Order: sequence, then structure tokens, then C-alpha cells
Amino acid sequence: MRALRWHGKHDVRCDTVPDPAIEDSRDAIVRVTTCAICGSDLHLYDGFMPTMEHGDILGHEFMGEVVEVGRDNHALKVGERVVVPFTIICGECDQCRRGNFSLCERTNRNRAKAEKVFGHTTAGLFGYSHITGGYPGGQAEYVRVPFADRTHVKVPEGLTDEQALFLGDIFPTGWQAAVQCEIEPSDTVAIWGAGPVGQMAVRSAVILGAKQVIVIDRVPERLAMASAGGAITINFDEESVIERLKDLTNAKGPEKCIDAVGLEAHVGRSFDSVYDRVKQAVMLETDRPHVLREMIYVCRPAGTLSIPGVYGGLLDKIPFGAAMNKGLTFRMGQTHVNRWTDDLLRRIQEGQIDPSFVITHTVPLEEGPAMYKAFRNKEDGCIKVVLKP
Ligand SMILES: NC(=O)c1ccc[n+]([C@@H]2O[C@H](COP(=O)([O-])OP(=O)(O)OC[C@H]3O[C@@H](n4cnc5c(N)ncnc54)[C@H](O)[C@@H]3O)[C@@H](O)[C@H]2O)c1
Ligand SMILES: [Zn+2]
Ligand SMILES: [Zn+2]
Repeated sequence: MRALRWHGKHDVRCDTVPDPAIEDSRDAIVRVTTCAICGSDLHLYDGFMPTMEHGDILGHEFMGEVVEVGRDNHALKVGERVVVPFTIICGECDQCRRGNFSLCERTNRNRAKAEKVFGHTTAGLFGYSHITGGYPGGQAEYVRVPFADRTHVKVPEGLTDEQALFLGDIFPTGWQAAVQCEIEPSDTVAIWGAGPVGQMAVRSAVILGAKQVIVIDRVPERLAMASAGGAITINFDEESVIERLKDLTNAKGPEKCIDAVGLEAHVGRSFDSVYDRVKQAVMLETDRPHVLREMIYVCRPAGTLSIPGVYGGLLDKIPFGAAMNKGLTFRMGQTHVNRWTDDLLRRIQEGQIDPSFVITHTVPLEEGPAMYKAFRNKEDGCIKVVLKP
């Protein structure tokens, strides 16, 4: 089959590889009909995630048709259409029973590695380095889905691939980010990053009834898309984020702040982001936490910081004293996808939201390597890429 594989920093290729096969009786093999490139894939592309190996198959946002099921998998039948969540879940461990699916205790087959680095294991993920299990991803013609009897969302008749696909990652991610803010009708929600996750967070915060939603980025077409979704926009290249946020909140600051940027925050004009660039370049720091610092500074005391943006390792110069003394609440994590999908599927079916609004490019899988570059560099108005194997 054909699949997109990681061969090192900025080197993704569409290669011919062996077809996957059932390895465990709970598995399924899915023929991928539609997949996407996620902002998280860019952290691999840019070489920031350790424990990637040459030849790893990428991709954790995908859906398709079940073509084979293991003998103990009684939940799926050949021919069914499924979206596959990026978090692999057993459905039975203590964390899964609490709905903390991205923290499943059983699905990471390299859990010893994770325990060494994080103190505990986290769930197995598709196409996302060996610290999360080294599972081949779904930017491919076929994929083996481990624990497939639990790791799936069935797609009802009448929904297109494009409407359903993002249930596997960015839609629940933006939603969880907003839910974790416990939005009240008097709240201003400020969202850093108008990428696909930020876009979903904007729509979610509007649906959840925020008084005012503000989005911060510097890419004009991304700001325009967020504005169409109901957000006030701030271009951080052209104006002071801190001053604008003060102006928009009677100098009080937003009650709720969402970091939909993560570890690759762009160098703005501020001193600290230049400092991060330099330290990251000489490997003294793994992440560029400029957005986190800005959120801690502007957030209204007693407010909440919700962090879907991915961080990988060590963060430098976090003003923890300010966070502590301002009484801020931090909520974060990889998304507990299946915790939200029943509700979000219903909202799509009822027409409250159609997540396909975010797609700007649809291309064959073979064009994946070029699209990684376009998405990363925000060329050609690229906001979200969908690939057809
Ligand atoms: N928690 C999860 O489960 C989960 C799931 C999916 C994605 N993510 C993470 O969410 C983040 C966003 O993903 P995406 O797909 O939207 O990626 P993306 O790279 O397309 O979007 C990031 C956006 O942030 C903007 N940005 C950069 N620096 C900024 C700054 N200083 N201030 C404001 N905006 C800035 C960029 O211009 C870009 O538009 C990534 O870190 C990704 O890894 C997390
Ligand atoms: Zn993702
Ligand atoms: Zn589990």
C-alpha cells in the first residue's frame, strides 16, 4: 500500500509499504477513505518530538471502511464506516472508566518509555512517535486499529466523510478546550492560534455561550475564518495583544484563555520569544512557551487557562509566581476524544455545526509531502488539508 512516512526533519515521503494485518483479536483493519494533516503532525515534521524513527507511518486523523475484524471484536462488522479517534483506548482500565481516554493505562505498548519520562504512561496514539506506542498512522491506504472494538466512532448514514472526519481529533479538541473553561455568560474567552484547533475552539466557545470570543494570530485568512465564526480578531504582528485585550475587557483581562498554539509559538516582537528561539536552537529548551507566558500575564485573576496546544518537554521562564498569586486554574491535556463524540455527532446531525468549514485543500495522498510544507508555511491560504488515499 501507499503511506506517508517520516524520514527526518522536513522529510515526509509517500512510500510503498507492506499492508497491515490483524495482530490481536480485538483489532480491525480499516481502508482509509479520508485523512488529514494535524498541527500536531507539524511538531514531528519540524523535528521537535523525540522518539520518531525513520520510516514511521504518520497520521492520526482518519476514517474509512472496516475491511477485516479480529475474532474477539464483536463491536464492528466488515463494511461499517468509522472515524478512528487519535487516542487508542481499551475502554476497561481505571482511566478509561473515568472517561480519561487519552490517559488509557493499557494501550501504550511502550509504556515503560513513557513512565521514565513522564512518571506515568499515557494512551497509545497513532503515528505519533515511539513514546506513545509507535503505532503506524492513518495517512495511508490501510491502517491496523488496535483495540478497535472500543477505538472507533461509527458514522451514521447521511454524513459525508468531511462532516465526520474531524470527530477523531480537532473538533473534540477545540470543544474540550472550551468546556474546560467552564464558560459563563459574562465571560470573555481569548484564544491564541487560529489554526484548525483554534477555529474549532472559537465555534465551541460561541456555542457554549461566551459573552465575547477573541482570537489572536497573524495569518489574515485564518483571522478572517475565525471572524466568520463569531470572534473578534487581534493580529499580533500589527498590534499589542496585551493592550487590545485590556481595551476589550475594561482593563480587567479575559476570564478564560485558550492556548491553541503550543510549543512552536512564532517569534513576535517580544523579547522572550527571541530568547526561546535561541535556546531552542542550541537545544537548551525543547519548547517555545511564549503564549503561555502571555496568557498568565493577561488572564484576569481567578481565571482559567485551558491548554490544548501540545508541549513536549521542558519549558523555561514560566512566571509561576504570577500564576500562583493570581489564583489561576490550569486545565490541559491530549483530548479524551470518545468522551465528547456522541454529543458532537448529534450536534453535526442536527446542523448546529458542520466542521468541514475548516477545509481549504483536498488532494490525493500522493501530494501529502507537498501539503505538509504548504500547511506548515501557511502557503496558498492553507488552513486544513484533507488527503484522499
Ligand atoms: N490536545 C490535543 O489533543 C490536540 C489535538 C490536536 C492538536 N493539538 C495541538 O493544538 C495546536 C494547534 O493545532 P493546529 O492544528 O491548529 O495547528 P496550526 O499550527 O495550524 O495552528 C497554530 C496557529 O498558531 C498561530 N500562532 C503562532 N504563534 C502565535 C502566537 N504567538 N500568538 C498567537 N497565535 C500564534 C499560527 O499562526 C497558527 O495559525 C498544536 O500545538 C497541536 O499540536 C492538540
Ligand atoms: Zn492531532
Ligand atoms: Zn484504557
